[in-house]
Amino acid sequence: MPKITFIEAGQEHGRVVDADVGISVMEAARNVGIAGIAADCGGACICGTCHVHVDAMWRDRVGPPTDIEIATMDFSEDVRSESRLSCQIKVTEDLDGLVLRVPGA
Ligand code: FES
Repeated sequence: MPKITFIEAGQEHGRVVDADVGISVMEAARNVGIAGIAADCGGACICGTCHVHVDAMWRDRVGPPTDIEIATMDFSEDVRSESRLSCQIKVTEDLDGLVLRVPGA
């Protein structure tokens, strides 16, 4: 099962989460109560409250945001080139070891 590390705002160390293949990264975060991932719209890509920063080592593998994500991130804070909406990233075996920061961290 892929492991994803979330570094919550204000924390130096990440929380390692087991994530089922096929769910979204947002769902993996919400399952364990990662702080700062409110996911108010439940993954419909309309709220921007599941925003994460993708670690530099993982940006190519995760890929860039879609046009819809970019538009929705207008509602997010601290948007950067490494920003993605975690509800739009599907967990795959390839993402085992992924490191994400919750904005503000
Ligand atoms: S959960 Fe609302 S945009 Fe991702």
